[in-house]
Amino acid sequence: MRPIYILGIESSCDDTSAAVIQGDCLLSNVIASQKVHEIYGGVVPELASRAHQHNIVPVVDLALKQAGIDKSQLSALAYTRGPGLMGSLLVGTSFAKGFARALNLPMIDVNHLQAHILAHFIRQKGEEHTPPAFPFLCLLVSGGNSQIVLVKSYKDMEIIGQTIDDAAGEAFDKCAKMLGLPYPGGPVIDKMAQSGDPEAFHYSHPQVPDFNYSFSGLKTSFLYHLRDEMAKNPNFAEERKPDLCASLQKAVVDILMDKLYKATKALKIKEVAVAGGVSANSALRAAFSDYARRYQWRIHIPKISYTTDNAAMVAICGYFKYLDGDFCSIDAAPFSRVSV
Ligand code: KG4
Repeated sequence: MRPIYILGIESSCDDTSAAVIQGDCLLSNVIASQKVHEIYGGVVPELASRAHQHNIVPVVDLALKQAGIDKSQLSALAYTRGPGLMGSLLVGTSFAKGFARALNLPMIDVNHLQAHILAHFIRQKGEEHTPPAFPFLCLLVSGGNSQIVLVKSYKDMEIIGQTIDDAAGEAFDKCAKMLGLPYPGGPVIDKMAQSGDPEAFHYSHPQVPDFNYSFSGLKTSFLYHLRDEMAKNPNFAEERKPDLCASLQKAVVDILMDKLYKATKALKIKEVAVAGGVSANSALRAAFSDYARRYQWRIHIPKISYTTDNAAMVAICGYFKYLDGDFCSIDAAPFSRVSV
């Protein structure tokens, strides 16, 4: 049988990425990250679209070269249709349409959030790999989402809990800004927290029903704590940065794990995964290992390279849809907001 080669394209936010997969085995994954946003303290949509336009051709070209295949060998093209920044999505979508039309390739539209979850099924050549068994629970945590997803199959996913306000990554980023730390704040807080005491300060935990989350109260409680302490000692934030970071990080991780644990108990599921940008957090990863020991969870933690936006996860999603013959029409429009 002819091998199945899928080209994946990701451009939903500020990373331009292309990847090639052969079946479920990754051949290449090229990511061009955009540094242009750093000085603005957040992603500037218009600059992101322009950078995607600049990067997309060389990124796709390099992904094909690194995979060692010619574009004529591709079986299909998978691209992120949404959710994400509309301008950024339009660049990837327009490129995908032109490329597919020129080569007469079938197109597969991919939901970015589903792709984060299915990244757990990417196989790397020569590596031991045990993907999650269905059904499993996935904690999907990024700058824009905090959800608990019940994953019943490659295509059947149900959100059983989600944030009613801010996402976990947003809480990290906004609190980091209050401390005068650069964007994105999550990785910086993670690093600073290594030398801090997570028990130094205690922040309020939200009372929201079911398996839902809320992070806006934590953000406010962090802000008021800083304001009150700075009124007494203007150097407080500077002097206690590691403790503040470690305590905030502990609060976020405790909130995330508490609801996830309740969901595993209610649904009697011990197969548990984590995905999205915040899954790079070292304390969250440690908490997963701890819960696995305490409650006999079988855990799935992504490689750091799959926590950020990447096209490998789009390609694997595309592969499963290809097997189902689930293609999209050339006039499919991108969407900025949608859930899994
Ligand atoms: O999934 P992602 O790359 O982008 C989207 O939101 O779509 O997630 C980015 C988020 C940012 O909020 C960033 O601060 C957070 O992930 N993040 C982290 C860490 N690395 C990235 N948060 C905490 N600890 C980290 N090590």
